[in-house]
Amino acid sequence: MDEHSFNDLRQRLGDEHMGKRLRAQVDHITNVTGRGLGTFHFENLSLFFQLVDLFLNVSGLIKVGQRNALQFAVRENHVIFPGLPEPFKGLRILQLTDLHLDGYPGLGSLIAQTVAGLDFDLCVLTGDFRFSDTGLYRHLTEEFNALVPSLQCRLGILGILGNHDFIEMVPLIEAAGVRLLINESVVLDINNENLWITGLDDAHFYGLHDFDKALQGVPTETARILLVHSPEVIPEAAERGFGLYLAGHTHAGQICLPGGNPVLLNANCERQYTFGQWGFNGMSGYTSAGVGSSGIFARFFCPPEIVIHVLQGTSP
Ligand SMILES: [Fe+2]
Repeated sequence: MDEHSFNDLRQRLGDEHMGKRLRAQVDHITNVTGRGLGTFHFENLSLFFQLVDLFLNVSGLIKVGQRNALQFAVRENHVIFPGLPEPFKGLRILQLTDLHLDGYPGLGSLIAQTVAGLDFDLCVLTGDFRFSDTGLYRHLTEEFNALVPSLQCRLGILGILGNHDFIEMVPLIEAAGVRLLINESVVLDINNENLWITGLDDAHFYGLHDFDKALQGVPTETARILLVHSPEVIPEAAERGFGLYLAGHTHAGQICLPGGNPVLLNANCERQYTFGQWGFNGMSGYTSAGVGSSGIFARFFCPPEIVIHVLQGTSP
């Protein structure tokens, strides 16, 4: 990120948020290399992935896992959304989450081939663009350039950051054509009726989600959708009147036992909110299994998914 981009971002997000984000990222890198005093150490998780990786390579199962990770399922999810303004009924939202785009050469282009035939009005990318959660992301640009043309639609492409994404990646992602929402909201206007989309910074690792800041300027009685990387702030979102909560993060386990039972989910919420469609106090929600893979580029009994949410009023 050059100085000009840094200053623009600092002005947009405020010194306090930038300071907290950068400090947390440095702390995170320190933990990964094992020098931190924190209670949660990612090196333990990477040891888990190293052991699984070793097993998959020795057994030859890695090729099966990679093939599985490239078999994208396309799902349609019908959303009950009380109070949805008439012009937005039938709106089709393409959700791609946990792309981890630099995890496999040519992944952007392979996803683009699947998305190319789909019909949607708005595209939302709900975080985790990078494979690793620290380190370089130089291959992201070429993968984005291969993917983004397939995502073009009449209401544009919105996104949020996940726990794998650093704030320094924002200019690169926005230059590719994605408008990121970092504790920010935008309004969609069709025939003078409004639907607000709010996006939060990562709640899972960085804990820098800020509902109050994100909702500044959003009228109280208005239809709204929340984009947040993980399904870990569900009660707070319901209290604030969101009609739909879209998340990812869990990969639905990514490496599961036969029958789709996850070995690891890594989310601080009840299991019923970690995959697929759910509801909470009148708010609809969906936690996607994600398109990419992290830790190891492989999936077992847990296909990657591309989701189209179709908004409806109070009944299908
Ligand atoms: Fe992820």
